[in-house]
Amino acid sequence: MLSIVLIGTGNVAQQFYAAMSNTKGLKIIQVIGRNKKKLSPFKNCPKTATDYKYLLNADIYIIAVNDDSIATVSQYFKNKPGLVVHTSGSMPLSILPESVRRGVFYPLQTISKERKIDLTEVPICIEAEKIEDYDILRELANTISAQVQIITSEQRKLVHLAAVFVNNFTNHLYHIGNELCNETGVPFTILNQLILETAKKATQMPVVNAQTGPAVRNDKLTMKKHLELLNNEGYREIYSVLSNSIQKTHEKKL
Ligand SMILES: NC(=O)c1ccc[n+]([C@@H]2O[C@H](COP(=O)([O-])OP(=O)(O)OC[C@H]3O[C@@H](n4cnc5c(N)ncnc54)[C@H](OP(=O)(O)O)[C@@H]3O)[C@@H](O)[C@H]2O)c1
Repeated sequence: MLSIVLIGTGNVAQQFYAAMSNTKGLKIIQVIGRNKKKLSPFKNCPKTATDYKYLLNADIYIIAVNDDSIATVSQYFKNKPGLVVHTSGSMPLSILPESVRRGVFYPLQTISKERKIDLTEVPICIEAEKIEDYDILRELANTISAQVQIITSEQRKLVHLAAVFVNNFTNHLYHIGNELCNETGVPFTILNQLILETAKKATQMPVVNAQTGPAVRNDKLTMKKHLELLNNEGYREIYSVLSNSIQKTHEKKL
């Protein structure tokens, strides 16, 4: 049985809690959060605390706080014998204090507390400093996911950057599409099948071959009309930067 203390009360902490608290072989013995009210989703946990002086001994400490606070929060674990991991895609393992057994437990998915996700399908990227700690991280990861991968801090930096492009930036482009639909009174849902097919193509064929649209066809007139239709200067810039990037990628064809 692996005993776990979860630190943080946000998106990742809530989804990990849901997935780990009813799992055979794991026991979340404590959740620590700095805001008492935000500990309410964890009321069934044996112990919750706002103060690190009540920190229990555990096999694993999962620090699921925002990236900028990991270094500060991890100082509280300096004298603990358990394995201390953070859940960030962009922070190196070395952000944790040298004096602890340290590791990374990064779920490669967009995670919101409002939306329950099936963690069994989420790749869990693990990293440990000591070889023997991989066993414990693998054991933990295998209980919640069918996709566990060892990824170094160097690799994770770029994987996370790729994730920002395919998820965060894409979502912002959905937002722009939503605004344009709102301007015309046509519901954004009219684009649902297009969004789903784009994602399916990206997972089922080489993405470079999946590109369609005016930029790859070099339809200059259409691109000019699109730029005229956009009354937001920032969105015009995004349109031009992305169109130029598509054309550069496909310049042999054009
Ligand atoms: N969400 C995702 O899609 C996702 C996916 C993979 C990995 N991650 C990683 O998981 C970690 C947590 O992300 P999240 O989305 O769960 O963040 P979040 O929802 O914003 O939650 C952050 C948590 O950190 C706490 N916190 C912030 N500063 C703190 C401090 N100085 N001391 C103590 N607690 C502090 C917050 O407390 P308050 O509520 O009181 O501010 C909150 O409980 C990050 O490292 C992130 O990179 C996130």
